[in-house]
Formats: sequence, structure tokens, C-alpha cells
Amino acid sequence: MKILSWSLCAAAIVAFAVVPTSAQQAPPIVLKFSHVVSADTPKGKGSERFKELAEKYTNGRVKVEVYHNSTLYKDKEELEALQLGAVQMLAPSNAKFGPLGIKDFEVLDLPMLIPSLAALRKVTEGPIGTGMLAKLDSVGLIGLGYWDNGFKVMTANKPLRDVSDFKGLKMRIQPSKVLHAQFKALGSVPQVIAFSEVYQSLQTGVVDGQENTPANIYSQKMFEVQKYLTLSNHGYIGYIVVVGKPFWNGLPADVREQLTKAMNEATQYVNEISQQENDAAIAAIRKSGKTEMISLTPTELEQWRKAMAPVYDEMGDRVGKQLIQDIQKTVSGATNTSPHKL
Ligand code: LMR
Repeated sequence: MKILSWSLCAAAIVAFAVVPTSAQQAPPIVLKFSHVVSADTPKGKGSERFKELAEKYTNGRVKVEVYHNSTLYKDKEELEALQLGAVQMLAPSNAKFGPLGIKDFEVLDLPMLIPSLAALRKVTEGPIGTGMLAKLDSVGLIGLGYWDNGFKVMTANKPLRDVSDFKGLKMRIQPSKVLHAQFKALGSVPQVIAFSEVYQSLQTGVVDGQENTPANIYSQKMFEVQKYLTLSNHGYIGYIVVVGKPFWNGLPADVREQLTKAMNEATQYVNEISQQENDAAIAAIRKSGKTEMISLTPTELEQWRKAMAPVYDEMGDRVGKQLIQDIQKTVSGATNTSPHKL
């Protein structure tokens, strides 16, 4: 009898231990956030800030796992993985949505369209930005915010100063038709290569050069295999933070609200640090002594602008002529406050 009551008691204790009695005991919702750049970049830092805030605001109900540097998925795979639900959050650059059939974000790839980050904010934080995010719905995605990286510079193993210097060079691009047209206009041969393979492609001569932000060039050590860097500031790279619709809509409403708050604060943080991160990268590359920096004269820059101008017409049908005009109108009159002046 005594033995029986003890075993009943033990069984009750076991049952009590395995049956969750409150939400606190439920396993956390795991949110995998995959991206392709290093932790030490605006996006890398933003993803860590989002993790910290999301876990704090949800009181541990959500666990965010950040995978930097293409450790989980590369460029193309990550978007497929998001649509399949194998990963829950990404922040691909605006140049990477074309292969999904979303062409609008490529408008931000147009050369010399965005004069400053302040001007860009007027685009992304206004009706144009909201309208572009709404397009994601058709491919089962939801856009949660726009994160900056910054303005692009050009690198190669020969000085890129005159437009004629681009002739015949194989240049790595992101998978954007606008970027393809931009390098064709300069006389180069554009080649789409995943971000994770750029360093090696430059090192082995698969391509001769590339364009990217200083933060990406520094953190991927591209400057070690490129002798020249032109401070052209000729275009912009930013990110669209995206989640899959089934995942996001399936979250409890209070969790969704807490994650939205975390995302809004992380967005503000990234957009506050992006400029200084890129400035610091330029200073670090300069200090390394491995790459010679080239500044363009206003006349040289004007030649670049003229050479690339036909891209607007050529890509008008793809990204939308009206969208181009709306952006031009929104940014007109904005002062260029970026470090590598146009
Ligand atoms: C690139 O592929 O060059 C960039 O989009 C990488 C990134 O995410 O900044």
C-alpha cells in the first residue's frame, strides 16, 4: 500500500513536470534570421540589435537565431528558403528581388538617383516606400522595414577614373537588370556572382572588379585583392527586411506587436549607424595601405553620369517610368550630405 502510494506520487510529479501549465513553459518560437554579410556591418549589427530587442520584448517567447556571412544560405537560396519557411527573416539588398519577379526595388539601383541618405528617407518612409513594400504580397512576403547600407564605390586592379577605363572589364554585379545595364553602359562585361563568392572571384581573376559599399569591401577583405578604389558614390545599397506571410500572420497578435516594436527600433539604429560604419571602413581601408583611393573631379564624375544616363530610359519599362519620376521629384532639392560627394 505504502509502495503503491509512493509510486502514484512519483507519477504525479513526473506528469506535473512534463505538462506545460503556462505560456512560459511552452517552447520558444524560433525565428531564424539569415543574411550574407559579416556581423561587423550595418546589417550585421542591426540583426544582432533586433535579436536582443525581440527576445527582451517577447520575454523569451521568441528566440532569434542570427546567421551571418552566408553561413546558412547564399543570395539565391535564402529567398527560396524564406518562401519555403526554412528561415523566417532575411534582409536582402534591394538589388536581389528581381529574380522573384519584384522589379520595383531595382529602381534604387539607378546610378546617381539618390543624392543623400536624408533624401532616401523621404522615399522609403513616405508613400513610395510603402507602395513598394506592398508589392511583396504577391510573392507571399511582408516587408518590415528599409535598412541602409550606404553608397557604393568601385574597385578594380586598374585605376577607374575615366569612363574609358571600364571598357572590357569583367565586373561582378548583384542580380539586378539595372546594374547589368549600368555596367553595359560603361562598356564593361557584367557578371552576376553571389556575395559569398566575390572575394574569391576577385582573387582568382574570374572578374576584374566590382562595386560595393565600403563596409562590405572592408569586412569581406575585398580591398586586399583590389589595388584601386574609386570614391564614386555612384549608387546605393539598402535592404528590405522581409518575413514570410504564413509565419508572420501565424504569430500570436501580442508577439507580432512586440516584434514590430523591436524591428522599428532596430531599423532606427541601423539607419543611424550606417554612415559612420561606412566612413570607418573607408578610413580602415586607407590605413591598410593596400588599396589606392581615387577621388573624381566634378568633370570626371559628370562623364560617368552622362555615360550611365541612358540606363534610365532603358530600364524605364522594367522599374516603372512613373516610379522613377516620383522618386526624382521626392529627392529633388535634397543636399548631398554623403561623404563621397557626387
Ligand atoms: C552584395 O551582394 O554585394 C550585397 O548586396 C551584399 C549585402 O547584403 O550587402
